[in-house]
Amino acid sequence: MSIQYEEKNRLFVLETRRTSYAMAVNGDNRLQHLYWGEKLPYASDYTLTAVPELASQESTLDVASLEYPGWAGIYYAEPCLKTTFADGVRDVVLEVAGHRVAEGAAPELCIELRDARYGLAVELHYRIYEELDLIERWVVLTNGGDRAVAVESAQSAQWSVPGNHSYRFTHLAGKYFHEMQLRRVPLTEGKKVIESRRSNTGHHQNPWFALDRGNATETAGPVWFGALAWSGSWKITAEVTPFYEVRVTGGMNDFDFGYRLEPGAKLETPAFIGGFSAEGFGEASRLLHRHQLTNVLPKEHAGNLRKVLYNSWEATYFDVSEKDQGAIAEKAAAMGVELFVVDDGWFGQRHHDRAGLGDWYVNPDKFPNGLKPLIDRVHGLGMDFGIWVEPEMVNPDSDLYRAHPDWVIHFPGRARTEARNQLMLNLARRDVREYIFDFMNRLLSDHDIQFVKWDMNRPISEPGWPELPADRQKEIWVEYVRGLYEIVDRLKAAHPAVVFESCSSGGGRVDLGILRRMDQTWPSDNTNALERLKIQEGYSYGYAAKTMMAWVTDNSADWLPLSYRFHCAMMGSLGIGGNLHHWSDEKLAEATRLIGDYKAIRHLVQEGLLYRLLSPGEGKQTTAVQYVAPDQTEAVLFVLAVHQSNADPLPPVYLQGLEPDRLYRVDGQDRPVSGRSLMSQGLPVRLEGAFQSRLIRIASV
Ligand code: GLA
Repeated sequence: MSIQYEEKNRLFVLETRRTSYAMAVNGDNRLQHLYWGEKLPYASDYTLTAVPELASQESTLDVASLEYPGWAGIYYAEPCLKTTFADGVRDVVLEVAGHRVAEGAAPELCIELRDARYGLAVELHYRIYEELDLIERWVVLTNGGDRAVAVESAQSAQWSVPGNHSYRFTHLAGKYFHEMQLRRVPLTEGKKVIESRRSNTGHHQNPWFALDRGNATETAGPVWFGALAWSGSWKITAEVTPFYEVRVTGGMNDFDFGYRLEPGAKLETPAFIGGFSAEGFGEASRLLHRHQLTNVLPKEHAGNLRKVLYNSWEATYFDVSEKDQGAIAEKAAAMGVELFVVDDGWFGQRHHDRAGLGDWYVNPDKFPNGLKPLIDRVHGLGMDFGIWVEPEMVNPDSDLYRAHPDWVIHFPGRARTEARNQLMLNLARRDVREYIFDFMNRLLSDHDIQFVKWDMNRPISEPGWPELPADRQKEIWVEYVRGLYEIVDRLKAAHPAVVFESCSSGGGRVDLGILRRMDQTWPSDNTNALERLKIQEGYSYGYAAKTMMAWVTDNSADWLPLSYRFHCAMMGSLGIGGNLHHWSDEKLAEATRLIGDYKAIRHLVQEGLLYRLLSPGEGKQTTAVQYVAPDQTEAVLFVLAVHQSNADPLPPVYLQGLEPDRLYRVDGQDRPVSGRSLMSQGLPVRLEGAFQSRLIRIASV
């Protein structure tokens, strides 16, 4: 049983294959956190922390951790819940009121906490993914009182790890064009905060984290990790108390947050999933990858291999037309491309980024007979057809804005600050949601479209919602994201065959919330293969390769070999984005061969187990990543070096994840060798000169 409750000690123990998680009700009827980590054998291993006599300046809650602390009493650390009741009382006292268990493939525990005086119920939900060593947590608040409650912060979860002052915090940071850079910092007393205040997930921080004690590696050592399923403003705070309790609190950002909970109303937080790996960062990533493939990605396409796509953006920018796109499509199809995507520029008066957003009619000068002739031609070439949209946005120079200037997010009497010449539609509004659903539904109903790239090219500013009373306008932070999710959910229900890609000027919207609805993401507008290697490495810490689109474009084509750029992009879901008119016959032939190579191994990349062997950020700046079939019968290894001299060759590459006693045949080698040899003796990989790369297949004999 993965959920156990021991009445005598009022102890809850959640067990997965290799971990346990424990909490108990203390003498004050509060739910205290006891343990999370490697599985412990006995119920008696879990005990309430004995708090010593403390000075008046200290808080017992800096010594013992509550499971979901409300802001109340002597408490100065990061709370999970902060409220103001109608009579002005601002502390929220959460006592344990009961619990229930639901058995199933992923069993669930719900513990109810309650502030009895005000009738505020707080349900803590835990869903256990036993095989994956993951626990998914979320909270539902219900106002059972008779007056409204102002919620100022409602976090999804607080994760406590065994107390220690030498934890290291790993996270993904960066900016536009440089998303997902791996960062590691030691935690000391106080807080380290990563967040988005932008109403999208953000390029600057990603809602994923890991904690270790400073000595975990890719293959060994305890690592605690988590990821938040929310595509709006969020916050994750890692905190070390003066008594070395270490906690990670996360959920919707409490900055400028406000949600009025009327009597009888509910507020459900996004989910925050957490896991523990005793085998380092590599295993932590693989658990999350597997979770995404089996439990997160939309069911319709989760089990399908992603098609090799072509995207027009970097080739033709806004200059798209039926004739020219058709000509490129011919070349793409001949190379083996399976999905042809027309990016920005096909609609309204969209000749540049200063006009047209919001006017979702097909531009008659570029497509005189509508999209159908191009779609038919693409289908005739044996490819699926895909299209770019940016439904949440409007250019002030558009018919939509001229008709509905009140539909954009703004504060009355203040500037409407533009970014990329655009403003954000207020998806919190019902009429805006209906408008977006309608034009998208029409686009997908009137045309035979298999794929949508859904873009979002600016963050929020002046976040007003003037139609609401002043004390409710902050609900825009929640309702905007709910609006987005609602529209996508409705579209997917109406058009289940359509594959969706999440893009936000590159990687501004990569998170487990969007991946529940969209099948893949575009991690960065940066298609320089060298820089991409680091972006892809960071991405792999939190997210599965199947969800990661990677294109070969003309970026750095003059100095990076085509095969190098392909090998880089083949480490995710492959796409092509170069201007094929300019590719020579030799280049097209080489690309055709490389796409063929990819198709032969993509099941391993997209659905195998990922092992990061060499990091582009370390030592010889050589990247090596290996993908192993779940049944260990085959694998593929990518090695990409910046520069390798024959005077100082690359040491053998030590493979991972193979079956030790199985014999494997390695590309280019005559005699099969054991998995143990490949892992212990390593595989010599010869690379000489600048920007050399290899794709090496390993198959069991
Ligand atoms: C964003 C996307 C790009 C492209 C352009 C189109 O920048 O990230 O891939 O779609 O918009 O305007």
